[in-house]
Amino acid sequence: MPAVVASSLALACESPLSALSPAGSQAQEIATLFWWMVAGAALIWAVVNGLALYAIRSRPRDPRKTRLFIIGGGAVLPTAVLTVLLIVGLGRVPGLFAPGEAGGPVVRISGEQWWWRVQYQMDDGTQFELANELYLPVGRRLSLVLESADVIHSFWVPSLGGKMDLIPGRMNRWALEPTRTGVFMGICAEYCGLSHAKMMLHVVVVEPSAFEAWAERQAADAAPAQVPGARVFATNGCPACHTLRGTTAKGVIGPDLTHVGGRVAIGAGVLPNTEKGFREWLLEVARLKPGVHMPTFDMLSDTELSELASYLEGLE
Ligand code: CUA
Repeated sequence: MPAVVASSLALACESPLSALSPAGSQAQEIATLFWWMVAGAALIWAVVNGLALYAIRSRPRDPRKTRLFIIGGGAVLPTAVLTVLLIVGLGRVPGLFAPGEAGGPVVRISGEQWWWRVQYQMDDGTQFELANELYLPVGRRLSLVLESADVIHSFWVPSLGGKMDLIPGRMNRWALEPTRTGVFMGICAEYCGLSHAKMMLHVVVVEPSAFEAWAERQAADAAPAQVPGARVFATNGCPACHTLRGTTAKGVIGPDLTHVGGRVAIGAGVLPNTEKGFREWLLEVARLKPGVHMPTFDMLSDTELSELASYLEGLE
């Protein structure tokens, strides 16, 4: 049994959604606080149970001794432990909410049913938009602005930091500072409607130079393509909802697809970013994400579906 518990604990710590394998300064603070809390709880548990055992077995004749145990175990010990935990906890707060680097890039994240609109404003004034994915440079603290277009959502990337709500009509300011590179998963942590559980995002943490190169690629227009898939996209209503920068597609209802082929996943983490994934998304979007605004494109022929899927996957 202990082996089972230990192995499931180890698995939980290593999962892409683990708060116990921190990859950011805030997550480190939270993990430290968690272990302090565990130690405090274990200490109180051990002493109180020890006293209970003692009380069952002993037959004290001196009432003063009994009173000492009651006051010690019932009042002094919990007060001391909780005071220490309070001091440790309050000491973590400034690190959790420190502002992002002055003059650095700002990332605006808007929660929408059920995906994340992500807009970067770089320090040189360049702006670009993408969806369901964030790139962050390791060792730098970027400012985030969190908003919502419809209902309350909550942004949570457990390996990088705690949760922050996205509230309609409000701007929540925050900052994240990753401490190691990797791909980390985030989820929406506030029930926001039918497909709340299908609102994930990926955070890719890279070296600062790779981040600058990525931003430069993202700011560029979509690669011009004379492939049949581009015609399928243009003539079947896709541009009404989606933007492809550099083309006539300028819809803003759904995600910007300018570089969609370069993202980790599609549909806010629902499917892998492959031609097959795009096909499945186009054909079965209503089943994959109940309540979503996007209609199913099952009126397309098999050839058109493949052409469109291959075109989208190629938009890197
Ligand atoms: Cu968005 Cu739950």
